[in-house]
Amino acid sequence: MGIPQPAFYIFKCEQSAPPGMPKPSCVTPATQDLFQYLAQKLMQEGIMGTVQPIRTSCMNRCSAGPVMLVEPGHTMYAGLTKEKIDKIISEHIIGGNVVEEYVIDAEMWDEPISPADMQKQMGR
Ligand code: FES
Repeated sequence: MGIPQPAFYIFKCEQSAPPGMPKPSCVTPATQDLFQYLAQKLMQEGIMGTVQPIRTSCMNRCSAGPVMLVEPGHTMYAGLTKEKIDKIISEHIIGGNVVEEYVIDAEMWDEPISPADMQKQMGR
């Protein structure tokens, strides 16, 4: 038997916004321990490993931060708090239902453009 893939990856940006990004709200003194909290929560629930938390650089949605991306599903959660992380773990990660009320506004997270279409737009 092989090593099982994770069921989920959870990406959490852990970097101050680069210069020029509006409202760098993902990593502030008040929110800098959210990754640690997420990791502890996954351990407490006994699901670390099949749910893999990943520290990332900026995901370009700082103004809605702190944000966290759940894959698969391309679900971007915004305005995170520890309480919201608890609910996302129990309802989405364990329960299988996206917590719609915490998902980023659609205007900040519109449908993706396929790479092939982007190349066409760029005239390639
Ligand atoms: S630091 Fe920019 S989206 Fe989180």
